[in-house]
Amino acid sequence: MAKGAAVTHVIVLGNEKGGSGKTTTAMHLVVALLKSGRRVGAIDLDLRQRSLTRYFENRRKFSELNGKDLCFPVISEVEPCAVDSREESTRRETENLATALSALEGCDFAVIDCPGADTHLSRLAHIHADTIVTPLNDSFVDFDLLARIDPETGRIAGPSLYSEMVWDARKRRAMTGVPGSIDWVVLRNRLSATRANNKKRMGEELEDLSARIGFRLARGFGDRVIYRELFPTGLTLLDLGGKGAPVRLSTMSHVTARLEIRSLVASLNLPGAAAAGPTEEAAAAAAA
Ligand SMILES: Nc1ncnc2c1ncn2[C@@H]1O[C@H](COP(=O)(O)OP(=O)(O)O)[C@@H](O)[C@H]1O
Ligand SMILES: [Mg+2]
Repeated sequence: MAKGAAVTHVIVLGNEKGGSGKTTTAMHLVVALLKSGRRVGAIDLDLRQRSLTRYFENRRKFSELNGKDLCFPVISEVEPCAVDSREESTRRETENLATALSALEGCDFAVIDCPGADTHLSRLAHIHADTIVTPLNDSFVDFDLLARIDPETGRIAGPSLYSEMVWDARKRRAMTGVPGSIDWVVLRNRLSATRANNKKRMGEELEDLSARIGFRLARGFGDRVIYRELFPTGLTLLDLGGKGAPVRLSTMSHVTARLEIRSLVASLNLPGAAAAGPTEEAAAAAAA
């Protein structure tokens, strides 16, 4: 465990479900932290899809092609491990992740993007986490990974797959004697502006669940096309607008989206007051 790098605060983006917004949130968190002047490292643990890696590659190309100066984290790679013996692959993966983390020792934050599946590497990352951020699509299909709902009574019947994994990570972290505990934050993603009933019910169930299985709820992200459009350029909402920005911040929806991102960073209560205030957006909103 790279806890020799005691000051590196590890943020893990996790949820065993693909498409919930882990990579998008990881990228925005990395850029938000860099822009607030912190040293940030990033690790892509989705060795199959490598979406975070590709996001940064696109960012590099955009920067070079357009002559724009963009911020980048220290990128640390985990070697894929293709051996047949389970024991041997477990040992090597443990070693590879520790090596990747120790390469980020000078960083204030290490942001780890996990795959949407239960892998050994993902479990390991959760044990290293100081903060886990779980984006969750606003659907009861996604809720099911956190808790089962009794179909007869409609009440929460008990924790489910992913919650049990986090519980296990908490236990293991305590056993290894690493100081501090894991702060688990659930972020509702792709909130619909129209499906008010579903939104309200999900909100109530999550509030109820948060106390029972030990997570905090952050203000969510709205469902916005811009997130899908940004990937090919490698940009984030935080790169848009402002003096000398590569692309203009065009609509109020983008301004609101940026506020949501800053609100997430603030609610993570990260060490060193990492959050930049929402001043820019507030000014833009006032001027609109
Ligand atoms: N708030 C959002 N609004 C609209 N699209 C989103 C939002 N968050 C993520 N997406 C899109 O959903 C897809 C899955 O997101 P991604 O971050 O890759 O999820 P994961 O890493 O959990 O698989 C991507 O196409 C992404 O652009
Ligand atoms: Mg992903």
